[in-house]
Amino acid sequence: MKVHKIAVLAGDGIGKEVAPEGVRAVEAAARRFNFAVEWTTFEWPSCEYYLKHGKMMPDDWMAQLAGYDALFFGAVGWPETVPDHVSLWGSLLQFRRQFDQYINLRPVRLLPGVPCPLANKQPGDIDMVIVRENTEGEYSSVGGRMFAGTEREFVLQEAIFTRTGVDRVLKFAFELARKRPKKHLTSATKSNGISISMPYWDERVDAMGLNYPEIRHDKYHIDILTARFVLSPERFDVVVASNLFGDILSDLGPACAGTIGIAPSANLNPERNFPSLFEPVHGSAPDIYGRNIANPIAMIWCGAMMLDFLGHSDAHDAMVAAIERVLVEGPRTPDMGGTASTTEVGAAIAALI
Ligand code: NAD
Ligand code: IPM
Ligand code: MN
Repeated sequence: MKVHKIAVLAGDGIGKEVAPEGVRAVEAAARRFNFAVEWTTFEWPSCEYYLKHGKMMPDDWMAQLAGYDALFFGAVGWPETVPDHVSLWGSLLQFRRQFDQYINLRPVRLLPGVPCPLANKQPGDIDMVIVRENTEGEYSSVGGRMFAGTEREFVLQEAIFTRTGVDRVLKFAFELARKRPKKHLTSATKSNGISISMPYWDERVDAMGLNYPEIRHDKYHIDILTARFVLSPERFDVVVASNLFGDILSDLGPACAGTIGIAPSANLNPERNFPSLFEPVHGSAPDIYGRNIANPIAMIWCGAMMLDFLGHSDAHDAMVAAIERVLVEGPRTPDMGGTASTTEVGAAIAALI
């Protein structure tokens, strides 16, 4: 029997509540489809670990995690005790960079049973995949502060767009569009205002598009693109974006499709030189932590994406089918208008799998 070695990094806040539900659902899928998972749970990265050790993770974190088939990640962040840029740059952003997880894949679908905040939208009207560049762009640590504390104080932060980095995410997005029925790709840009990096991004999109004559591709400036997400989400299929624009679109998309509590993401190193990381789009939600009311569906869906990446597309499909059924029939957590707990929803989905 195939055995997958998975590291569980639950993190902070509701990460600790939803991760066990993701594990439970994957375990149910493993029993049904006849494979095994060997789970190893880590107490880091987390803000609690930081308060004890002065860092989010041990120095040899890369060596400790490199041998796993995948990383199953909850969420990190507890801004009351550790500033967000310290906790996130000390953990998730290191994983993405050091493990070269340059694709952040974030599917967004309006599903039956999920209350949609947009008027007159039916299930099926929203069905897109956001492909977010995940290792460079606006998320750079290049820059600094000068003349600190004086009137002359300033900060500078660079954005980095490498040809390799841009081309590889565009290629992935075009290839994905090729596999989808609509064969449509939209690129997020801002080349009217950001006058160096974004014209370059557009130029690379056009160059890559030449290799994919069967894919219709267009571009929108990020400002109007956010408006179009709300007004006419049905026109999008694959949406490719730089790191920051992709971040914004991947909270907006799921909000348009009902709740960010069900939105999954896969941080992929497609070459499999390093483990890929599967995590909900949402964060640690300190405002609801400790009440057992967080929606576990995003985490469970991440488990499905993880199994798909590990070669179990049948397990993926069964898990998504179970999620879809629970969205229609309940139980539901409060973010979806219900009164059920995290564990009740998790148990219901696992039972269906
Ligand atoms: P958040 O996603 O944690 O929460 C935003 C809102 O959505 C909150 O009202 C929260 O209660 C709600 N929400 C989020 N997930 C939910 C779920 N599963 N079920 C029901 N409701 C849910 O975003 P935030 O408030 O901006 O950030 C909180 C902390 O999480 C910060 O420290 C932030 O840096 C961190 N964060 C971490 C990640 C990550 O680790 N991948 C992602 C985003 C934010
Ligand atoms: C996400 C998160 C992270 C990001 C934060 C927590 C650094 O918002 O995964 O979308 O900006 O990438
Ligand atoms: Mn985000």
